[in-house]
Order: sequence, then C-alpha cells, then structure tokens
Amino acid sequence: MKWGSMSLAFYGLGAAAVATSVATLKKRLELSQAKHKSLAGHSRIARRLAGFVPFYDYDEDRFFRSDDAPGEIAARRRAGFARLSALYRTRFAETIRRTAQASDAISDLQFTDAYRVPFQYRRLVQAHLPSAAFVQSSSGVTVTDLDGNRSYDLTGSYGVNVCGYDFYKDAIERGTARVRELGPVLGPYHPVIVDNVKMLKEISGLDQISFHMSGTEAVMQAVRLARYHTGRSHLVRFCGAYHGWWGDVQPGVGNPLPAHETYTLTEMSDHALRVLRSRRNIACVLVNPLQALHPNASAPSDSSLLDSARTAHFDKARYAEWLRLLREICTERNIVLIFDEVFVGFRLAKGGAQEYFGVRPDLVTYGKTLGGGLPIGVVCGKSGLMKRFRDDRPADICLARGTFNSHPYVMAAMNEFLRYLRTPAADALYRDLDRIWDERAQTLNRRLAAESLPVAVANMSSIWTVGYTEPSRYNWMLQYYLRAEGLALSWVGTGRLIFSLNYTDADFTAVADRFVAAARAMQADGWWWSNPSLTNKTIKRTVLKEMIMHRLFSSRPG
Ligand SMILES: Cc1ncc(COP(=O)(O)O)c(C=O)c1O
Repeated sequence: MKWGSMSLAFYGLGAAAVATSVATLKKRLELSQAKHKSLAGHSRIARRLAGFVPFYDYDEDRFFRSDDAPGEIAARRRAGFARLSALYRTRFAETIRRTAQASDAISDLQFTDAYRVPFQYRRLVQAHLPSAAFVQSSSGVTVTDLDGNRSYDLTGSYGVNVCGYDFYKDAIERGTARVRELGPVLGPYHPVIVDNVKMLKEISGLDQISFHMSGTEAVMQAVRLARYHTGRSHLVRFCGAYHGWWGDVQPGVGNPLPAHETYTLTEMSDHALRVLRSRRNIACVLVNPLQALHPNASAPSDSSLLDSARTAHFDKARYAEWLRLLREICTERNIVLIFDEVFVGFRLAKGGAQEYFGVRPDLVTYGKTLGGGLPIGVVCGKSGLMKRFRDDRPADICLARGTFNSHPYVMAAMNEFLRYLRTPAADALYRDLDRIWDERAQTLNRRLAAESLPVAVANMSSIWTVGYTEPSRYNWMLQYYLRAEGLALSWVGTGRLIFSLNYTDADFTAVADRFVAAARAMQADGWWWSNPSLTNKTIKRTVLKEMIMHRLFSSRPG
C-alpha cells in the first residue's frame, strides 16, 4: 500500500517534470521561430562571427576589378577615381587638411572615417578620397565647408533638422535670451518647463514627462520604468531596430557583452506575437517606427554595401496594422508598449508616429529635434508607469538622475520648438508631407530610370534610402560622386538621406539634378559595368571565399 502510493507519487512527479520540460521546449521553439533568419536576428552568433572576419584589403589592381571586369572598364574606373581624387584635393583642400589633423585625436572621427565603404576598399579610398568632416556655416537647406563650398544638406543632422537650420539657430538664440538671467543653474527649474510639460502632455496624450540628455537615456529610462512596474526582466526589441547605444537595446555587434535580458524578435511576424502571448517575463516591447521603411534590417550604411541586395519599401497600412496587433497583445498581457520616437517624432507628423499610424503606446520617447537644436531625451508616459517610488514600500525605488536634465537653455529652446508647432507657419510646413515627399521620390526615380541608371530611392516621408537595381560591387562609390556634385551626406553615405521639411520644390529640383548628374558620371566611369554572371549571390560567395582564404592562409586575395 505504502509502496503503491510512493510509486504513484513518483509517476506524478515524473509526469509533471515531463510536462514542464515539454512546455519549456515549446517556448524555446517558439522563441527560435520568432527570431529573424538574418544574422541581425541572432545577436550572439553575429557577435561570435564578427570576431572571425579577418581584415584584408585590395591592391590597386583588385580595387578596380573586384568584379572581374575587363581591363578597359578597369581603366575607365581608374581614370574616374583619379579625376574625383584631384577634384576633392583642390575643392576641399582646407577642409580635408583640418580633418586629417583632428582625426588623430578624435576617436569618433577615426571610426566614421573607417566605416564609409566596405573595408576591402578602405585603404585606397582613404588615401585618395579623404574625409572632409568640417563645416563652417549653414543657411536654408545648405551647409558650407571650410573651403567655402556650399552643399545641399541631405544629412538632416542625424534627423534633428526637421524645420531647417535657420529655425534652430533662432530657437536657440531666442531661448537663450529668455533664460539668460538664470543662466546654467541646475536642480531648481526655470518656469519655462511648465509650458513644455503642458504641450508635451497634449502632443503625446500621456500624463507625465521626464527629461533626459539624449535619446539613449530616454530609452534606458523607459525600459527601466517598465521593468520596475511589471516586475519582469525582459525587453523585446525588433530585429535591426536602433534604440541608441545602451547595451540592453544593442545586443549584437558593437556591444562587447551579450544582453541577457533582451529578446530580439522578427518584426511584423506572427511568431513574434506568439512569444509575446506565451512568455511571462516580458516587461516591454520597444518599437522604432522608422523600421517601417525596412523591417528587420539594420540601419543601412554604405560600409555594408557589398552588393545590391539592400532593399527598402514602406507600406503604411501594413505597419499600422502591425502596431495595432502589438497594442492588442501588450494590453492583453500587461506588457508595456514603448514607441521610441526619438527619430520619427515630430517628423512624420506634429503628433509623431502615434498620430501618423493611429496607435497609442504606454510610453513614448522623444529626442533629437524636440530640443530645438540642443541635446535632449524625453519620456512621456501614463502616470502609473512614470512613478519612481512606491507609497507602501519606501525603499523600493526606480532611480533616474542626470546632472544636465532639464537644463534651462535646453528647456527654453524646446519651448521655442513646441510653440512653433502651434503656428500657421508650422501648419504649412507639415501640410501634405507624405504627398510632397512621395512625389519627389517618384520624380527622382523616373529621371533615374529614364537614363537607365541602376539606382532607385525608397522613402518614408522625408526619410530616404538609396537602393541599387543591378548587381554591383561598387555602389558605395556613389556617395563620392554625390559629394562632388555638392550634396552633403552623413558618414553612412547613401544608406540614409534625411531632408528637412523646409526644402522647396526648387531646392529639391536642384538636388535631383545633382543626384542624376552624379549617377550619370558614375555610370560613365564604368563602375556599374556588369555581366550576367554577376549576381548578388555570386558577389556574396566571392567575398565569403576571400574571407575564408584569408582566414586560412592570411594572404592577400586576388
Ligand atoms: C530611434 C532612436 N532611439 C534612440 C536614439 C539615440 O538617441 P541619441 O543619439 O540622442 O542618444 C536614436 C538615435 O539615432 C534613435 O534613432
């Protein structure tokens, strides 16, 4: 009798253990199904593999013939390269000289300079088309370098420049005048903050605000609050999405440590929804709506432009539906839904992505342009989520500080920006944005296609990315032709063009003329030579073979 009940208990325990491990296995399986197939979807593997990629570079011959083009084409490329190099050295002489001087002591400059083109080509590009990283002034939609060259600005200052540089100059000046009497006193607030809070509550539709110094910090705080209030550990981010450089939101290449409390899931996927539905440890879901332009892909940079596989396509209705599904599940599972609008807030619409896509999150982060030209990060949230202490447990707090938070000068410039949003001038600036920018993108694409140039842009309103329609190893060269035509790009090259909303039709036509001229010159110089055996697949295979050969034999390929 006694043995009987003991064995029954053992059976019971065994069955429970089996059931638990089946459930665990099922969850594991669900999680692996919800990971994007790309390396960006597998942070750990990506980090490990990154450590195996050997450095090697091309000698002069291979530099011009890495696609095995005939000698005549290589000669055209060589001549074009020499012509561009001579033009850079004369036209940008002083700017290049100062950049080279500064580069020794500015690590960021060394980094951005190294990652403008695929590393195999870096040495010769740096030697012959050196960076010119200084500008002296800005005006309208242009910037002027140290040599007096005026270029149309397509950098958008990393997205900060929504209203035009002159607007921000004025905002800083007027704001500074308003708080000058107080100066840089930190701790106590300047009264201007009250007006900012009121306007931010209206715009975000949320109850409370916290001020930080950068978008990265705003995201850190939003995630920390979500963890504090839910008592759960994990954040969900979507494959490829950038949320600043804090470790937990940047689990892959670039972060020396693995992020243990982060799930990177496929965006716009039922598998991801299943994980949100079944896991109990998820505190929050972070969405960067910019990903709608290229779901699951990392920020497009020309340094990874090995072939022509880069694609982008924005489908507003589909992305809105995805956000609606996320909203539904987050509500159902008490998961905090965070929109990271540091980039797109105040760019897609005055009310940001919430207004644009018609979905309301629990927390929103803003940054960039909201500072009126000065550094900023902001979290807006429902009051229950923003609270940083518990009434019944005084020692259980959620800390967030920052010496420069709520700096009077930043608050004043922000106030200028927020008050501007209420003016008829801002109404005019934001009117018909999508139509205007879609038409401009289509016009440029039509012009490029009419001349059989293998380039096409994709856009999400005023945020653009350049794609390449024929297989090529040299698409990254376009950035140098564009600069030569007087178009200023950021260090990611043609991966991201960001327009300020004050571009007039005439400004844009001038940009389109220069863009087409640049592509035409690149075509004439033979960089887009191709033959049927050159495909994105064969290019990838060639590069992989080079890497393996170099890893094994440590000799120069080609
Ligand atoms: C969506 C998003 N979140 C966060 C950040 C980080 O902001 P910051 O560079 O101000 O730290 C960025 C910056 O580009 C961003 O685009």
